Amino acid sequence: MPDTATPPPLQSALAEAAAEIDQTLDQILPPAEGPEAPLLAAMRYAVIGGGKRLRGFLVLEGARQFGVSRQAALRVAAAIEMLHAYSLVHDDLPAMDDDDLRRGKPTVHKAFDEATAIIAGDALQAAAFGTLAEEETHSDPAVRAELVRCLARAAGARGMCGGQMLDMLAEAAAEPLDEVQVGRLQLLKTGRLIEFAAEAGAILGKAPSAQRNALAAYGRDLGAAFQIADDLLDATASAAETGKRTGKDAEAGKATLLGLLGIERARMQAERLVTQARDHLDSFGDRAELLRDLAAYTIERKS
Ligand code: IPE
Ligand code: IPE
Ligand code: MG
Ligand code: MG
Ligand code: MG
Repeated sequence: MPDTATPPPLQSALAEAAAEIDQTLDQILPPAEGPEAPLLAAMRYAVIGGGKRLRGFLVLEGARQFGVSRQAALRVAAAIEMLHAYSLVHDDLPAMDDDDLRRGKPTVHKAFDEATAIIAGDALQAAAFGTLAEEETHSDPAVRAELVRCLARAAGARGMCGGQMLDMLAEAAAEPLDEVQVGRLQLLKTGRLIEFAAEAGAILGKAPSAQRNALAAYGRDLGAAFQIADDLLDATASAAETGKRTGKDAEAGKATLLGLLGIERARMQAERLVTQARDHLDSFGDRAELLRDLAAYTIERKS
């Protein structure tokens, strides 16, 4: 018997994906040299060497269902992780959630300064779209355009940015949001990008629309469960576990399902969503086993 337990397949697959995504990001992002060095350093600081890489992993596993080349999938995974990192850099700014800890280290505006954090976020977003549009990502320009179009929808005013706006408005609202309104807020803020991450492999692989839609539906349910889990961690976990400050949402008056339902019912809702997410993968067979495991991990995670 070995004295250390063998990591379960999902944990080792996540670790391997994280290492490959880091390597790809390192190649895509210019070195922190020249007169703009602080900007490039802040971009690298924000996106390389941290995070669970859940969105990138979704791209890689989705792509694997359709035999897409690892190199192409890694570029799309890196693009989504850059877009996500930008959203976190801006989310942590004093004007938004005002956080000083992210991924176990000082937030970008603390390690650099506010202006650099804003510009680094902007530039990460541009790098994400630029990466999707480059020929190395896919030989077919229609596939590249579809990736760009879908990421724009997921990230924009009816996607992540729209959700962030609703999140900020809810903090200051006289009346608390109801369950339907919070569901929509979370679908936009978190769900749309995770949905796109789950769907991107099908776009790369030119998959039939039934399979692409099934992956998107899986991503939508997973994203909803993921944000409930994030809110539960804020209420129940420590900064040492999550790498970010916790216990802040209630104080800030954040609109969360947890706030409306309480811990037990919020947990049950997340579990229902995970089952529903896995059901969307029924037509995929054994190859999708890691995606099924990922759904469960989304709500069992401690960070
Ligand atoms: C945090 O996302 C922001 C949310 C949308 C809840 P993650 O929990 O995926 O953050 P990292 O990438 O692992 O740091
Ligand atoms: C952020 O949600 C969602 C984004 C689009 C960045 P949170 O504000 O709850 O994320 P954390 O808890 O700071 O990671
Ligand atoms: Mg926020
Ligand atoms: Mg936040
Ligand atoms: Mg949170």
